[in-house]
Amino acid sequence: MSANLSRRRLLHHLGAIGLAAAARPVWPDAAAAVKIPSADICVTGDVRAQPLFVAGGDGYLGRIAPQGDLLTLTAGAREGGKAIVTQGPLAFVARHRGRRCTNPTLVLQRGERVRIDLVNALSEPTITHWHGLLVDTRNDGNGSVLVPPGERFGYDFEVRNRSGMYWYHPHPHGLTASQTYRGLYGAILVEDDDERTLRSTLDVVPGRTDIPLVLQDRRPGITYAPSPADLTHGFLGDGIVVNGTPYGYLDVATRLYRFRILNATNARTLKLAFRTAGGALLPFVVLGNDGGLLEAPMRCEQVFLSTAERLDVAVDLSGAAIGDSVRLETLTFDPMHAEMPDAVATDHSAMGSASSASASSSSRHHANSLWPEGSPRALLELRVRERVAYTRQMPARLAAIPAIDTAGATERAFRLGYAKGRWRINDRVFEMGMPPVEVKRGTVETWLIRNYHSSMPHPMHLHAFHFEVLARETGPDAVASLAVDRTGRLASDFGRKDTLLVWPGESVRVAIDFTHPFPGAQSYLFHCHNLEHEDGGMMLPLAVT
Ligand code: C2O
Ligand code: CU
Ligand code: CU
Repeated sequence: MSANLSRRRLLHHLGAIGLAAAARPVWPDAAAAVKIPSADICVTGDVRAQPLFVAGGDGYLGRIAPQGDLLTLTAGAREGGKAIVTQGPLAFVARHRGRRCTNPTLVLQRGERVRIDLVNALSEPTITHWHGLLVDTRNDGNGSVLVPPGERFGYDFEVRNRSGMYWYHPHPHGLTASQTYRGLYGAILVEDDDERTLRSTLDVVPGRTDIPLVLQDRRPGITYAPSPADLTHGFLGDGIVVNGTPYGYLDVATRLYRFRILNATNARTLKLAFRTAGGALLPFVVLGNDGGLLEAPMRCEQVFLSTAERLDVAVDLSGAAIGDSVRLETLTFDPMHAEMPDAVATDHSAMGSASSASASSSSRHHANSLWPEGSPRALLELRVRERVAYTRQMPARLAAIPAIDTAGATERAFRLGYAKGRWRINDRVFEMGMPPVEVKRGTVETWLIRNYHSSMPHPMHLHAFHFEVLARETGPDAVASLAVDRTGRLASDFGRKDTLLVWPGESVRVAIDFTHPFPGAQSYLFHCHNLEHEDGGMMLPLAVT
């Protein structure tokens, strides 16, 4: 870090401390809230806040509700686009009823038939995976079928998911990380009666008070050129963009806001929290996660969000005063890459750890990412500008989710580890045509996913079936301390999950119901969603027969 930057940071910190001392507690519960030193608020210092880009009916992330129409989705070079939005060099483009959207947000109804023609306008093969959607193998886009340049592939499936936020991205094995990083990703919002009830109960309106936040890591330039260390640890950006905005602000009123957050970074885990200008963490409510709405809202103050996970949160600003501001931040945490095996431990010092991140004069910042995983940063600022009356109550129930009956379930064990230069599941590395993990359709299994101590966190994802998290055990203290019950589960572990972060030394037990309505055997994938690990073969095929 240059002397200039250090001085700027120091001034920034002093400024924050000064403000904190002068500020009166703005929230009724401020005294009870966790106080984290203001010095933790570390905005990049050289990025000026600009208005958060919020998707509308066209353009970047524009909402498209196909309602049965055949939609053509073209993956290709991005042309033009809004200069105010930071995007990669590639994009998905769709036109619908006269509107043109890039990386459209697909708004789908539960039960709706979806027909999408994927057109490959790239110079390399691709295929699109509907992450989290309960579809058959043919529509899963898992990479067993690829679309050559210039050709197309037709998807045709029914939306069987509950309401929630899902997403889509390329899945051609070995090219997934590169294509996703370079700009091919988009959100899917599934709606059903639970969603409509919640929206009217909370009085939230999509695009105004119910806002999707799509997070992506960026480095300067348009290339994806990972170093060997990036391939081992995952490719991190120097900064994050939220809906394409490097550091955005949103003018808000004194009421409840809902944010639907998608971590579409290649590899970065975040520890999200809302913080008042006074420095206190502002409790928020988790309404849903990857699998859709939870049964009941969960109140919390900080939550980890790994790559590919989604979080549906509500934050109540009705106690705020005009002029207050609240930041969505990622807090300091130990990314635990320090637990790496000796063979790669040297790479790690270059990536930075929580300790090197806070050592301001560290020379270890130079390589790979200027923003190490686990270092704090403000992502979005909510500026309270308008007073309104808001009296809606958070409902006690959000959805009904039947528990998976695990009586008599087969237990299967998966170990996550590193050997001979590769990340592995059960010591194996993915190859096309390798023997799959075989499960019987219509049965329930429990999986015990264990990560070695000498490892790093792995966000594990299963296609087409969702996990019910039963327990987290022997995790690091920083994770265990966020547990909300004696099973060790976190606030974000309830309901259903399709991606689960498993920390070094941790065991996570999940239940999966392999019931599906599709004729014949189906094949899917179970893999780490750190995209560099996935492309490197930290993946196993799964056959449901
Ligand atoms: Cu989001 Cu197999 O992927
Ligand atoms: Cu998936
Ligand atoms: Cu991994």
